[in-house]
Amino acid sequence: MKKVRIHHFAEMKARGEKITMLTAYDYPSARAFDAAGVDMLLVGDSMGDNMLGMDSTVPLELDEMIPFARAVARGAERAFVVADLPFGTYEVSPEQAVTSAIRMMKLSGAEAIKFEGGRRVAAQVKAVTDAGIPFCGHLGFTPQSANALGGHRVQGRGDGGYDALLADAVALQEAGAFAVVLEMVVAPIAEKISAALDIPTIGIGAGAHTDGQVLVWLDAMGVGDWHPRFSRQFAAVGQAMTDGAAAYVAAVKGGEFPAAEHTFDS
Ligand code: KIV
Repeated sequence: MKKVRIHHFAEMKARGEKITMLTAYDYPSARAFDAAGVDMLLVGDSMGDNMLGMDSTVPLELDEMIPFARAVARGAERAFVVADLPFGTYEVSPEQAVTSAIRMMKLSGAEAIKFEGGRRVAAQVKAVTDAGIPFCGHLGFTPQSANALGGHRVQGRGDGGYDALLADAVALQEAGAFAVVLEMVVAPIAEKISAALDIPTIGIGAGAHTDGQVLVWLDAMGVGDWHPRFSRQFAAVGQAMTDGAAAYVAAVKGGEFPAAEHTFDS
């Protein structure tokens, strides 16, 4: 089991090996996905809506994320850990971005930072990478800007879609990003951008021709009764938990648990 480090992603792109990434928000999920061989764990700000019951990622605060990111970093032995900066913690200036990124890195043990946007945050990305912090970009549908984008809309369609996304991706690459997430981008555009960039692209709802894939783990493992069309359910964890809890309730109410082997007699 070799620790995944930042240079491995460029090597994987060069040899055509797909990069795998899943979100993780706590120690047990980090341990499970690390043991499964997932290359990168993303402490996504999707924890806001997926774990904390918020109605979007927008209300989440940096200091709310840090304990979760620290737990993931503790659980990851092999996987490379990337932590999101939440909305409002990097947009104002390069100084704000570096301050937030340093706080996340120091207090969580994450190995890289991700935040959303292209040319509009290129100065922030350059400042973060100049500070010695590995950076992963996020383009296409960017959930923190869902209000400005008019909701959850597929990106890259129409005239100028490719040119705008490519200009954003190149700006991130030139600012020192080591990878870029492409979310809900039409597949032919995502493929062309992946071919045009030296750094790897990690797709989510962006088709099969990006250099890697990322999914929100609750969608991928079947927690909850809904998942987006671009995701696939690889397990039925939510149902297994409900079945297990129902079995526990029945065993306690029926007097079968605890049994002798669970009991200290003296
Ligand atoms: O926060 C998150 O989970 C993400 C993924 C959707 C890429 O940014």
